[in-house]
Amino acid sequence: MKSIAIYNNKGGCGKSTSVINLAYEFSVHSKVLVIDTDGQSNTSRFFVNDPKNGLERVLLGENEVLTAENTLYDNISIISATAAINNAVGTFGGFSEEKQRGIAESIVNANGDFDYVIVDLPPAMNVVTEHIVGACDYVFVPVELGTFAIQGIPKVTNVISKCKAQFGGAFINKFDKKNSADITLLQMFSKLMGDKALTTTIPYSKVIKNSISYKTTAREYMGWTNAGKAFGQLAEEIIERIGE
Ligand SMILES: Nc1ncnc2c1ncn2[C@@H]1O[C@H](COP(=O)(O)OP(=O)(O)OP(=O)(O)O)[C@@H](O)[C@H]1O
Ligand SMILES: [Mg+2]
Repeated sequence: MKSIAIYNNKGGCGKSTSVINLAYEFSVHSKVLVIDTDGQSNTSRFFVNDPKNGLERVLLGENEVLTAENTLYDNISIISATAAINNAVGTFGGFSEEKQRGIAESIVNANGDFDYVIVDLPPAMNVVTEHIVGACDYVFVPVELGTFAIQGIPKVTNVISKCKAQFGGAFINKFDKKNSADITLLQMFSKLMGDKALTTTIPYSKVIKNSISYKTTAREYMGWTNAGKAFGQLAEEIIERIGE
């Protein structure tokens, strides 16, 4: 089992979109568990109609046993999140470092029978996200191009190293190849990240935006388009980096 956190403290850069589409791409050949740790529940609502409470009780140190729910996809299960998770941050923050680490690891490794665990995170770094990121084997960072976003990357990578997580790499989401600013920023990004820059870029595309609105993945919605294939390429590149 390999666990992958999709993290960036910047909001709206495509974490949930990436988790949903990567989970689908991995699920073609593997069993996937999605863990949503964001009280916004965007990823949860994509996969299940009625996200369950539960995660917050585990964070509060109660002996709740998390059971993954089935989704409409045979090979994808989910541990969902509700807004209640936000109430657990304070109490969790008061626990010893060791207890915090133990709880985070019990969430990420809750269920053994999966090939990949993909974790969605909120756009915030707090004591909970820090430990969840730290409990994952690898962290991948979606980046929406913009000067501020590029300037913010060192902060994100510092947080990842502070969490003692393995930084797998960063990839560009919402890339507009017709925008010369994006091309310049992509060059800056590649230079800054070196071999941590993934070569796959996810285009800005209505295929990706609309597919989520229709509760389907980009591949299912329009798999013959470049945008419909992009997360497949990204999944392959991630597997090359972390192994099967
Ligand atoms: N490649 C893309 N092309 C077009 N729209 C996109 C793309 N990726 C994401 N979006 C849209 O951008 C918005 C933000 O995406 P998403 O919710 O995945 O970001 P997020 O990082 O999870 O946000 P948050 O930080 O709030 O959790 C959504 O409306 C989504 O449909
Ligand atoms: Mg999100």
